[in-house]
Amino acid sequence: MTDLETTERATSDRGTNNRDIVLKARDLRKYYPIKGGVLQRQVGEVKAVDGVSFDLYKGETLGIVGESGCGKSTLGRVLMRLEEPTDGTVEFDGVQMYEQSGSAMRKMRRDIQIVFQDPYTSLNPRRTVGEIVGEPFNIHPDVVPKKGRRKAVQELLELVGLNPEHINRYPHQFSGGQRQRIGIARGIALNPKVLICDEPVSALDVSVQAQVVNLMEKLQRELGLAYIFIAHDLSVVRHISDRVGVMYLGRLVEIGDEDEIYSRPTHPYTQALLSAVPVPDPTLRGKRDQITLSGDVPSPANPPDGCHFHTRCWKVQDVCRTDTPELEVHQDGDGGHLSRCHFAEVRQVIETQDVSGRGKDSLFAGQGERDNSDAVAAGAAGDGDVQSGPDTRAPSGG
Ligand SMILES: Nc1ncnc2c1ncn2[C@@H]1O[C@H](COP(=O)(O)OP(=O)(O)OP(=O)(O)O)[C@@H](O)[C@H]1O
Ligand SMILES: [Mg+2]
Repeated sequence: MTDLETTERATSDRGTNNRDIVLKARDLRKYYPIKGGVLQRQVGEVKAVDGVSFDLYKGETLGIVGESGCGKSTLGRVLMRLEEPTDGTVEFDGVQMYEQSGSAMRKMRRDIQIVFQDPYTSLNPRRTVGEIVGEPFNIHPDVVPKKGRRKAVQELLELVGLNPEHINRYPHQFSGGQRQRIGIARGIALNPKVLICDEPVSALDVSVQAQVVNLMEKLQRELGLAYIFIAHDLSVVRHISDRVGVMYLGRLVEIGDEDEIYSRPTHPYTQALLSAVPVPDPTLRGKRDQITLSGDVPSPANPPDGCHFHTRCWKVQDVCRTDTPELEVHQDGDGGHLSRCHFAEVRQVIETQDVSGRGKDSLFAGQGERDNSDAVAAGAAGDGDVQSGPDTRAPSGG
């Protein structure tokens, strides 16, 4: 049985089939050529994404986690056709994305947007916030008539908790958290159905992370967006996600509801990742099941045969070295979920009961929706735009 069939079977098994699927990825692959020698011939390939299949439901958040280099960003780019895949399909709202061209593709692009990791480099420093957030309206001029664009941008700024009067400011006049709000405002400008968030809070301070995550949840409730939330921080992903997919060397190794992944993981890699999450409650330290992995992540240019994880797995047997396990349903003690392991079995790694009086949501509890660094920035900039140095001008040159 192929991965696709097992995915389909698993989703229908669990009665989720009647939920609306907005995006279907099937066996997506992205291989980058490695060139070498004087003639720059292709000498190999980097298998950045190596056969990924999943469904995304309307209005849900699917978290994608995994170590650096496992292919998360590449997957994000392929899902919204910033790059063409080597193989595989993406179906968006019942339409095959990679069969579209011209205006049909442009129309589809409206509905699937991205927010990038680094709020410092993803915003053009020579454009005002108004120009940055309003850019999607220039690309899709029929969405908002020219006369109404300034107002539309101001409404977006307001929606993400920024002062609409700051529409003429430049990115360097904002804090990191505020810049990410600008990126989010641009991402939601066209009222997309899916927002791919590639490590949207990784570059931010923990307290600011919380504000941005809370903002994203608020926007999801108000706009009915589905998120693909890429991150390497398991606690942030847990907080925001309905379902979580774990990636290792270009493949999904486990995917399921948030509590299935965090409380009843069946893949050894997920178990190892969870065992490395810092435990905030000191009374739990030492009680946790510690798993130390040996070795480094192998290169995606030369992934191990069979199960990609076998070189670091403590359960490895001969079959793991030769046969690639399918992503299929394994029992987890409370039903089952998809996992890619010949010897999948549930192992609770972290105490997930609320023993300390702190719910899982407490991580971000009590954080205001609004970025309070606004006040700091406003103070520094002054309401009358009295700024020190050349900051009120656009950076020149280049
Ligand atoms: N344009 C490219 N050309 C060649 N190789 C690439 C390209 N983009 C990514 N890769 C390789 O593909 C693999 C996956 O990269 P990717 O950026 O998707 O990982 P990631 O999971 O997002 O990592 P991180 O957590 O560090 O952002 C890496 O080995 C990377 O070097
Ligand atoms: Mg990345």
